[in-house]
Amino acid sequence: MAVSTESMKSLYLPKLAEVLKVEPLSEKEKLFQLRMKDGSRLSHKPGQFVEVSVLGVGEAPISVSSSPTRDSSFELGIRAVGNVTRALHRLQPGDTLGIRGPFGNGFPVSELLGQDLLFVAGGIGLCPLRSMVQYAIDKRGQFGKITLLYGCRQPAEQLFQGEIAEWRRRQDIEIMESVDRCPLDVSWGGSVGVITTLFPRVDIEPNNTTALVVGPPVMYRYVVAECLKKGIAKDQILLSLERRMKCGMGFCGHCQINNVYVCLDGPVFNYEELSKLKEAEV
Ligand SMILES: Cc1cc2nc3c(=O)[nH]c(=O)nc-3n(C[C@H](O)[C@H](O)[C@H](O)COP(=O)(O)OP(=O)(O)OC[C@H]3O[C@@H](n4cnc5c(N)ncnc54)[C@H](O)[C@@H]3O)c2cc1C
Ligand code: FES
Repeated sequence: MAVSTESMKSLYLPKLAEVLKVEPLSEKEKLFQLRMKDGSRLSHKPGQFVEVSVLGVGEAPISVSSSPTRDSSFELGIRAVGNVTRALHRLQPGDTLGIRGPFGNGFPVSELLGQDLLFVAGGIGLCPLRSMVQYAIDKRGQFGKITLLYGCRQPAEQLFQGEIAEWRRRQDIEIMESVDRCPLDVSWGGSVGVITTLFPRVDIEPNNTTALVVGPPVMYRYVVAECLKKGIAKDQILLSLERRMKCGMGFCGHCQINNVYVCLDGPVFNYEELSKLKEAEV
Protein backbone atom coordinates (compact mmCIF):
# COMPACT_ATOMS: atom_id res chain seq x y z
CA MET A 1 0.00 0.00 0.00
CA ALA A 2 1.37 3.43 -0.93
CA VAL A 3 2.16 5.60 2.09
CA SER A 4 1.39 9.29 1.59
CA THR A 5 4.11 11.89 2.11
CA GLU A 6 1.95 13.36 4.88
CA SER A 7 1.80 10.08 6.86
CA MET A 8 5.55 9.45 6.27
CA LYS A 9 6.27 12.89 7.73
CA SER A 10 4.28 12.07 10.89
CA LEU A 11 6.62 9.09 11.48
CA TYR A 12 9.78 11.25 11.38
CA LEU A 13 8.58 14.66 12.52
CA PRO A 14 6.48 15.20 15.63
CA LYS A 15 3.08 16.67 14.87
CA LEU A 16 1.77 19.12 17.42
CA ALA A 17 -1.09 18.03 19.65
CA GLU A 18 -3.05 20.01 22.22
CA VAL A 19 -3.80 18.74 25.71
CA LEU A 20 -7.59 18.87 26.07
CA LYS A 21 -7.97 17.27 29.49
CA VAL A 22 -5.78 15.80 32.26
CA GLU A 23 -7.28 13.43 34.84
CA PRO A 24 -5.53 11.65 37.71
CA LEU A 25 -5.88 7.86 37.44
CA SER A 26 -3.97 7.07 40.64
CA GLU A 27 -1.11 8.58 42.61
CA LYS A 28 1.39 7.84 39.80
CA GLU A 29 -0.66 7.77 36.61
CA LYS A 30 -2.57 10.45 34.73
CA LEU A 31 -4.84 10.20 31.69
CA PHE A 32 -4.27 12.77 28.93
CA GLN A 33 -6.88 13.54 26.30
CA LEU A 34 -5.19 15.00 23.20
CA ARG A 35 -6.11 16.30 19.79
CA MET A 36 -3.88 16.99 16.78
CA LYS A 37 -3.61 20.73 16.23
CA ASP A 38 -4.06 20.36 12.45
CA GLY A 39 -7.40 18.60 13.02
CA SER A 40 -6.17 15.23 11.63
CA ARG A 41 -7.07 11.94 13.30
CA LEU A 42 -4.38 9.73 14.80
CA SER A 43 -5.83 6.74 12.86
CA HIS A 44 -4.30 4.13 15.16
CA LYS A 45 -5.12 0.47 15.74
CA PRO A 46 -5.73 -0.82 19.30
CA GLY A 47 -2.35 -1.87 20.75
CA GLN A 48 -0.25 0.63 18.77
CA PHE A 49 1.92 3.25 20.45
CA VAL A 50 3.09 6.79 19.74
CA GLU A 51 6.35 8.59 20.49
CA VAL A 52 5.39 11.53 22.70
CA SER A 53 7.72 14.50 22.97
CA VAL A 54 7.78 17.26 25.49
CA LEU A 55 9.42 20.18 23.76
CA GLY A 56 12.92 20.77 25.14
CA VAL A 57 12.89 17.61 27.31
CA GLY A 58 12.71 14.45 25.16
CA GLU A 59 10.59 11.67 23.75
CA ALA A 60 9.03 8.47 25.16
CA PRO A 61 6.96 5.62 23.65
CA ILE A 62 3.44 5.51 25.09
CA SER A 63 0.58 3.18 24.10
CA VAL A 64 -2.65 4.72 22.88
CA SER A 65 -5.18 3.98 25.57
CA SER A 66 -8.41 4.86 23.75
CA SER A 67 -10.13 3.12 20.86
CA PRO A 68 -10.05 4.54 17.31
CA THR A 69 -13.84 4.05 17.34
CA ARG A 70 -14.15 6.97 19.78
CA ASP A 71 -13.98 10.63 18.67
CA SER A 72 -11.16 12.48 16.91
CA SER A 73 -9.25 12.98 20.16
CA PHE A 74 -7.17 10.17 21.70
CA GLU A 75 -6.01 9.28 25.19
CA LEU A 76 -2.70 8.27 26.79
CA GLY A 77 -2.38 6.87 30.32
CA ILE A 78 1.04 7.82 31.63
CA ARG A 79 2.99 6.82 34.75
CA ALA A 80 5.56 9.38 35.92
CA VAL A 81 8.89 7.55 36.21
CA GLY A 82 11.61 9.77 34.67
CA ASN A 83 12.41 13.00 32.82
CA VAL A 84 9.90 12.83 29.97
CA THR A 85 7.01 11.29 31.86
CA ARG A 86 7.45 13.69 34.80
CA ALA A 87 7.46 16.63 32.38
CA LEU A 88 4.29 15.20 30.78
CA HIS A 89 2.66 15.10 34.21
CA ARG A 90 3.30 18.86 34.56
CA LEU A 91 1.30 19.66 31.39
CA GLN A 92 -2.10 21.35 31.68
CA PRO A 93 -5.08 21.67 29.32
CA GLY A 94 -4.14 24.06 26.50
CA ASP A 95 -0.46 22.99 26.50
CA THR A 96 1.22 21.54 23.41
CA LEU A 97 3.25 18.36 22.93
CA GLY A 98 4.65 16.43 19.96
CA ILE A 99 3.37 13.11 18.60
CA ARG A 100 5.08 10.75 16.12
CA GLY A 101 3.34 7.65 14.89
CA PRO A 102 1.28 5.58 15.43
CA PHE A 103 3.87 2.78 15.48
CA GLY A 104 3.91 -1.00 15.82
CA ASN A 105 1.52 -3.69 14.69
CA GLY A 106 -1.18 -3.44 17.39
CA PHE A 107 -3.66 -6.26 18.01
CA PRO A 108 -4.71 -8.24 14.91
CA VAL A 109 -8.25 -6.89 15.05
CA SER A 110 -9.58 -8.59 11.90
CA GLU A 111 -8.31 -12.00 13.10
CA LEU A 112 -10.10 -11.45 16.42
CA LEU A 113 -13.54 -10.98 14.87
CA GLY A 114 -15.91 -13.71 16.08
CA GLN A 115 -13.44 -14.81 18.79
CA ASP A 116 -14.05 -14.91 22.54
CA LEU A 117 -11.60 -12.46 24.12
CA LEU A 118 -9.84 -13.08 27.42
CA PHE A 119 -8.13 -9.83 28.47
CA VAL A 120 -5.49 -10.15 31.17
CA ALA A 121 -4.17 -6.81 32.45
CA GLY A 122 -1.55 -6.29 35.14
CA GLY A 123 -1.20 -2.77 36.59
CA ILE A 124 -0.55 -0.14 33.94
CA GLY A 125 -1.02 -2.86 31.29
CA LEU A 126 -4.69 -1.88 31.35
CA CYS A 127 -3.74 1.32 29.45
CA PRO A 128 -2.93 -0.42 26.12
CA LEU A 129 -5.58 -3.11 26.65
CA ARG A 130 -8.28 -0.50 27.29
CA SER A 131 -8.01 0.55 23.65
CA MET A 132 -8.98 -2.97 22.53
CA VAL A 133 -11.61 -3.39 25.29
CA GLN A 134 -13.30 -0.16 24.18
CA TYR A 135 -13.07 -1.27 20.54
CA ALA A 136 -14.72 -4.62 21.31
CA ILE A 137 -17.46 -2.85 23.32
CA ASP A 138 -18.12 -0.38 20.49
CA LYS A 139 -18.38 -3.27 18.01
CA ARG A 140 -19.87 -5.69 20.52
CA GLY A 141 -21.77 -7.81 17.96
CA GLN A 142 -18.51 -8.69 16.16
CA PHE A 143 -16.91 -10.50 19.10
CA GLY A 144 -17.89 -13.47 21.25
CA LYS A 145 -17.68 -13.68 25.01
CA ILE A 146 -15.51 -11.02 26.68
CA THR A 147 -13.74 -11.63 29.98
CA LEU A 148 -11.38 -9.17 31.67
CA LEU A 149 -9.01 -10.16 34.46
CA TYR A 150 -7.37 -7.14 36.06
CA GLY A 151 -4.76 -7.35 38.79
CA CYS A 152 -2.81 -4.65 40.56
CA ARG A 153 -0.82 -4.36 43.76
CA GLN A 154 -3.47 -2.70 45.94
CA PRO A 155 -6.92 -1.14 45.50
CA ALA A 156 -5.58 2.45 45.39
CA GLU A 157 -3.53 1.53 42.30
CA GLN A 158 -6.51 0.35 40.29
CA LEU A 159 -6.81 2.46 37.12
CA PHE A 160 -10.02 3.49 35.33
CA GLN A 161 -12.20 2.64 38.35
CA GLY A 162 -15.24 4.57 37.02
CA GLU A 163 -15.02 2.96 33.59
CA ILE A 164 -14.57 -0.53 35.05
CA ALA A 165 -17.72 0.08 37.13
CA GLU A 166 -19.57 0.94 33.87
CA TRP A 167 -18.24 -2.21 32.17
CA ARG A 168 -19.33 -4.22 35.19
CA ARG A 169 -22.91 -2.91 34.83
CA ARG A 170 -23.07 -4.36 31.30
CA GLN A 171 -24.37 -7.93 31.08
CA ASP A 172 -22.03 -8.81 28.18
CA ILE A 173 -18.60 -8.54 29.84
CA GLU A 174 -17.32 -10.59 32.75
CA ILE A 175 -14.86 -8.79 35.01
CA MET A 176 -12.69 -10.32 37.71
CA GLU A 177 -10.27 -8.25 39.75
CA SER A 178 -7.47 -9.04 42.14
CA VAL A 179 -5.03 -7.13 44.31
CA ASP A 180 -1.81 -8.56 45.71
CA ARG A 181 -2.68 -7.09 49.11
CA CYS A 182 -5.45 -5.01 50.65
CA PRO A 183 -4.98 -2.74 53.69
CA LEU A 184 -7.37 -3.69 56.54
CA ASP A 185 -9.16 -0.32 56.49
CA VAL A 186 -9.97 -0.49 52.73
CA SER A 187 -13.10 -2.20 51.44
CA TRP A 188 -12.44 -4.40 48.40
CA GLY A 189 -14.92 -6.61 46.56
CA GLY A 190 -12.40 -8.50 44.38
CA SER A 191 -9.92 -11.28 45.17
CA VAL A 192 -6.73 -10.93 47.16
CA GLY A 193 -3.75 -12.67 45.58
CA VAL A 194 -1.77 -12.49 42.33
CA ILE A 195 -3.72 -12.35 39.06
CA THR A 196 -3.25 -16.05 38.31
CA THR A 197 -5.43 -16.90 41.33
CA LEU A 198 -8.41 -15.73 39.21
CA PHE A 199 -7.87 -18.38 36.52
CA PRO A 200 -9.63 -21.33 38.22
CA ARG A 201 -12.88 -19.30 38.01
CA VAL A 202 -12.41 -18.46 34.31
CA ASP A 203 -14.85 -20.37 32.12
CA ILE A 204 -13.80 -20.33 28.45
CA GLU A 205 -14.12 -22.31 25.26
CA PRO A 206 -10.38 -22.63 24.47
CA ASN A 207 -10.73 -23.39 20.75
CA ASN A 208 -12.47 -20.09 20.15
CA THR A 209 -10.60 -17.93 22.67
CA THR A 210 -7.75 -15.48 22.19
CA ALA A 211 -5.97 -14.20 25.31
CA LEU A 212 -4.67 -10.61 25.16
CA VAL A 213 -2.14 -10.10 27.91
CA VAL A 214 -0.37 -6.88 28.95
CA GLY A 215 1.42 -6.29 32.22
CA PRO A 216 4.80 -6.33 33.92
CA PRO A 217 7.29 -8.82 32.40
CA VAL A 218 7.25 -10.97 35.56
CA MET A 219 3.54 -11.66 35.03
CA TYR A 220 3.86 -13.14 31.53
CA ARG A 221 5.40 -16.52 32.35
CA TYR A 222 2.75 -17.34 34.95
CA VAL A 223 -0.22 -16.03 32.93
CA VAL A 224 0.95 -17.90 29.81
CA ALA A 225 1.18 -21.12 31.88
CA GLU A 226 -2.43 -20.62 33.05
CA CYS A 227 -3.66 -19.90 29.51
CA LEU A 228 -1.94 -23.06 28.22
CA LYS A 229 -3.46 -25.04 31.12
CA LYS A 230 -6.91 -23.78 29.99
CA GLY A 231 -6.16 -25.23 26.53
CA ILE A 232 -5.59 -21.95 24.65
CA ALA A 233 -3.21 -22.55 21.71
CA LYS A 234 0.20 -20.82 21.78
CA ASP A 235 -0.62 -18.69 18.74
CA GLN A 236 -3.86 -17.54 20.40
CA ILE A 237 -2.01 -15.99 23.34
CA LEU A 238 -1.07 -12.39 22.48
CA LEU A 239 1.44 -10.48 24.59
CA SER A 240 2.56 -6.86 24.27
CA LEU A 241 6.26 -6.38 25.00
CA GLU A 242 7.90 -3.30 26.45
CA ARG A 243 11.52 -2.59 25.51
CA ARG A 244 13.69 0.52 25.61
CA MET A 245 12.91 2.38 22.38
CA LYS A 246 14.26 5.44 20.58
CA CYS A 247 13.26 5.74 16.92
CA GLY A 248 10.11 3.58 17.03
CA MET A 249 10.59 2.58 13.40
CA GLY A 250 13.26 -0.10 13.07
CA PHE A 251 16.35 2.11 12.58
CA CYS A 252 18.24 2.44 15.86
CA GLY A 253 18.20 -1.15 17.15
CA HIS A 254 17.49 -0.16 20.77
CA CYS A 255 14.47 -2.47 20.99
CA GLN A 256 15.98 -5.43 19.14
CA ILE A 257 15.48 -9.01 20.43
CA ASN A 258 17.44 -11.52 18.34
CA ASN A 259 16.31 -10.80 14.75
CA VAL A 260 13.18 -8.88 15.72
CA TYR A 261 12.51 -5.17 16.28
CA VAL A 262 9.85 -4.82 18.98
CA CYS A 263 8.86 -1.36 17.67
CA LEU A 264 8.25 -2.62 14.15
CA ASP A 265 7.40 -6.33 14.39
CA GLY A 266 5.57 -5.85 17.73
CA PRO A 267 4.93 -4.70 20.36
CA VAL A 268 2.19 -7.37 20.10
CA PHE A 269 3.48 -10.92 19.50
CA ASN A 270 1.85 -14.29 19.92
CA TYR A 271 3.40 -16.74 22.34
CA GLU A 272 4.27 -19.18 19.55
CA GLU A 273 6.55 -16.47 18.03
CA LEU A 274 7.97 -15.40 21.38
CA SER A 275 8.80 -18.91 22.53
CA LYS A 276 11.26 -19.06 19.58
CA LEU A 277 12.98 -15.80 20.60
CA LYS A 278 15.47 -16.91 23.22
CA GLU A 279 16.24 -13.41 24.48
CA ALA A 280 12.57 -12.42 24.89
CA GLU A 281 12.62 -14.34 28.21
CA VAL A 282 8.86 -14.83 28.32
C1 LIG B 1 5.70 0.12 23.32
C2 LIG B 1 5.71 0.82 24.66
C3 LIG B 1 4.53 1.29 25.19
C4 LIG B 1 4.53 1.95 26.43
N1 LIG B 1 3.33 2.40 26.90
C5 LIG B 1 3.31 3.10 28.05
C6 LIG B 1 2.09 3.64 28.53
O1 LIG B 1 1.01 3.48 27.94
N2 LIG B 1 2.13 4.35 29.69
C7 LIG B 1 3.31 4.56 30.38
O2 LIG B 1 3.28 5.23 31.41
N3 LIG B 1 4.46 4.02 29.96
C8 LIG B 1 4.51 3.32 28.80
N4 LIG B 1 5.70 2.82 28.35
C9 LIG B 1 6.92 3.01 29.16
C10 LIG B 1 7.48 4.40 28.90
O3 LIG B 1 7.90 4.49 27.56
C11 LIG B 1 8.67 4.68 29.82
O4 LIG B 1 8.24 4.70 31.16
C12 LIG B 1 9.25 6.05 29.45
O5 LIG B 1 9.98 5.91 28.25
C13 LIG B 1 10.14 6.56 30.49
O6 LIG B 1 10.70 7.76 30.00
P1 LIG B 1 11.26 8.86 30.99
O7 LIG B 1 12.11 9.79 30.22
O8 LIG B 1 10.13 9.45 31.78
O9 LIG B 1 12.09 7.99 32.01
P2 LIG B 1 13.64 7.61 31.93
O10 LIG B 1 14.36 8.73 32.58
O11 LIG B 1 14.03 7.23 30.55
O12 LIG B 1 13.60 6.30 32.83
C14 LIG B 1 13.11 6.25 34.15
C15 LIG B 1 13.28 4.84 34.68
O13 LIG B 1 12.43 3.92 33.95
C16 LIG B 1 13.23 2.92 33.32
N5 LIG B 1 12.65 2.71 31.99
C17 LIG B 1 12.37 3.61 31.05
N6 LIG B 1 11.82 3.05 29.99
C18 LIG B 1 11.73 1.73 30.25
C19 LIG B 1 11.24 0.61 29.54
N7 LIG B 1 10.72 0.69 28.31
N8 LIG B 1 11.35 -0.61 30.13
C20 LIG B 1 11.85 -0.73 31.35
N9 LIG B 1 12.32 0.29 32.08
C21 LIG B 1 12.27 1.50 31.54
C22 LIG B 1 14.62 3.52 33.25
O14 LIG B 1 15.61 2.51 33.24
C23 LIG B 1 14.67 4.32 34.54
O15 LIG B 1 14.93 3.48 35.63
C24 LIG B 1 5.74 2.13 27.14
C25 LIG B 1 6.93 1.65 26.61
C26 LIG B 1 6.93 1.01 25.38
C27 LIG B 1 8.22 0.50 24.84
S1 FES C 1 13.20 1.71 18.67
FE1 FES C 1 14.68 2.00 17.12
S2 FES C 1 14.71 0.06 16.18
FE2 FES C 1 13.06 -0.10 17.57
